[in-house]
Amino acid sequence: MKKKNDAIIGKMESIREEIRKNDVFYYIYDNPQITDAEYDALMQELIALEKEYPELITSDSPTQRVGGKVAAGFRTVQHQEQMLSLANAFSAADLKAFAQRVEDAVEESVEYVVEYKIDGLAVSIIYESGNLVQGATRGDGEKGEDITSNTKTIRSLPLRLQSQNGKEIPDVLEVRGEVFMPKKEFELLNEQREADGDVLFANPRNAAAGSVRQLDPQITASRALDFFVYSLGTVSKPLFNTHVGNLEFLKSLGLKVSPLKDIFKNIDDVIAFIETWEIKRDELPFEIDGMVIKVNDIEQQQKLGARARSPRWAIAYKFPPQQAVTRVKEITVQVGRTGAVTPLAVLEPVRLSGSVVSKATLHNQDEIERKDIRIGDHVIIQKAGEIIPEVVRVLPEKRTGNEQKFKIPATCPICGAPVVRQESEAVYRCTGQACMGQLKEQISHFVSRDAMNIEGLGSAIVEQLVREGLVQSFVDLYRLRREDMIHLERMGEKSVANLLASIDASKENPLHKLIFGLGIRYVGAKTAKLLSAYFQSMEALQKADFDTLKDIPEVGDRIADSIIQYFISEENKHLIEQLEQQGINMVEGKMIKADTLSGKRFVLTGTLTQLTRSKAQEMIESMGGKVSSSVSKKTDFVVAGEDPGSKYEKAKAIVDSHSNSPLKIIDEQEFMELINKNNL
Ligand code: IVH
Repeated sequence: MKKKNDAIIGKMESIREEIRKNDVFYYIYDNPQITDAEYDALMQELIALEKEYPELITSDSPTQRVGGKVAAGFRTVQHQEQMLSLANAFSAADLKAFAQRVEDAVEESVEYVVEYKIDGLAVSIIYESGNLVQGATRGDGEKGEDITSNTKTIRSLPLRLQSQNGKEIPDVLEVRGEVFMPKKEFELLNEQREADGDVLFANPRNAAAGSVRQLDPQITASRALDFFVYSLGTVSKPLFNTHVGNLEFLKSLGLKVSPLKDIFKNIDDVIAFIETWEIKRDELPFEIDGMVIKVNDIEQQQKLGARARSPRWAIAYKFPPQQAVTRVKEITVQVGRTGAVTPLAVLEPVRLSGSVVSKATLHNQDEIERKDIRIGDHVIIQKAGEIIPEVVRVLPEKRTGNEQKFKIPATCPICGAPVVRQESEAVYRCTGQACMGQLKEQISHFVSRDAMNIEGLGSAIVEQLVREGLVQSFVDLYRLRREDMIHLERMGEKSVANLLASIDASKENPLHKLIFGLGIRYVGAKTAKLLSAYFQSMEALQKADFDTLKDIPEVGDRIADSIIQYFISEENKHLIEQLEQQGINMVEGKMIKADTLSGKRFVLTGTLTQLTRSKAQEMIESMGGKVSSSVSKKTDFVVAGEDPGSKYEKAKAIVDSHSNSPLKIIDEQEFMELINKNNL
């Protein structure tokens, strides 16, 4: 038996080696040596063996990248050494001043290394005995969030370091670098989100940060993230005496290091080099927002030291925001969910920061007047971290005299109702009670992920449903039949069936999702959760008076007033009644069925925000579960609230060391979902 096991271990390890080797060719060198099919076959063979011999799964196995374990709310980790940021330079003069300070301090000649300043988020990765043991965000520089499971899903980050030329790998090796999303992946992700009716990410950096900070590592795994190392953190023994030497060494271990690390002997050459990149940046497959200049010699770096948050031996040169000149073809208005009528410039398409732009926001009428933007004007546009760029200024010298001033129309272009401006507001609003423009946006909000989470209702489908009069309020969604939709554009049998199933499933949603979906002004997803936890039912929320509402933390006069106004409306009351008739869940704990947690052992740790511990205990017990005060191998669920303590650590140790342990660590949100949906 022992022999057989040895043979299997050997076989599994050799497949793992083969996969790792090919991962390096594929992800690090962009130079695959085998076909995708061959690679998949290796992976499948390994998965099959691991399924048969689960006790032989190792934590560094390539199959563990998609970490199936449930992550708790992120644990905080203390960085061994502070994670520094960089001071900024915006001009050649700033760079010269930096070089002057450096050279005055070291009193010898200095070599500068120039790297890309990649626009992602800083993370620290710790390897112990060559194995990836921890991934963390920078946080405030002292403490970050433990995102180990998520970093393990990044394909270009090896789970195990490989020494190529016999050089020893330090026992502890912390590397720091940037997690980012390549431009192409970012565009694909946003296209997908648009089709699904999800909110778009403004830029690749937000997309990367949003993906890394997912509680479910499966979601992180599904996002194509990449990683470049740009420095060392804590290392158990000193490595090389130059920054570039260290990076080359890290590269030899299989890490992907900053691809550009050119060395210059004086700052003028650095400046000339950077200028060439300001133009070429568009050609790169990832977004850069500048260049980083570092002193190459480690001894010189140490002599220079650091200020509070940034080293004296490095500086970031920030590129100015990219701008482009184009012409305003037309100015249109958009009608939002609350009736806000906002102007939008339709532009002659122009390339900007790697994508083609054909619209710019104009914010409001005051802004149009302040900048004197007219239809037909040539304008300079720039991206300011938002999806849609803004108009910086008009080029009046290009005017021909045919340009036309614009005024927000007095009536809504969609429903014809008067558009009015309230004294205290900069925005104009459509006063139509049955405006299709508003309705379309309201429906899109109602079905969005944080609200009722109905999949398959992208904006194009919503538009058709509204246009054809099939949906005149949220309730109509629940009355849709196959025959109503099968003829719509982009809808087939399968998508209709999926959509109907998703609509049906949404009836069981926790109450807070419905409250958010209603679109009560100023009630965001978080407030909706607080309201749901406090009132426990739609009925109680509807009856709540101003003072009761204000008892809830974070609910101030403005929100309380808006909730009262919402429920005063006969129309809204009628809407809720109809939703209830359609079978939509209207209470916080309705879905609890007795005994569905029968025999399950729970441990609660950390602070819960939506309910008290005793309330949580009561709920578990009402469903047949038990709550104990300490974690053991028999525990089924550890509910980790904020700042969980030693019980959480113990649970994690059990999960990590027993790959087939039944123990699951869940956060408060997952606990609520478990209770509400009773989905064991
Ligand atoms: S070095 C002490 N190098 O820019 C070393 N940072 O604005 C500190 N960044 O926090 C960082 N590319 O997240 C360094 N080649 C690069 C970088 C880089 C991007 C980020 C990093 C840093 C931020 C500072």
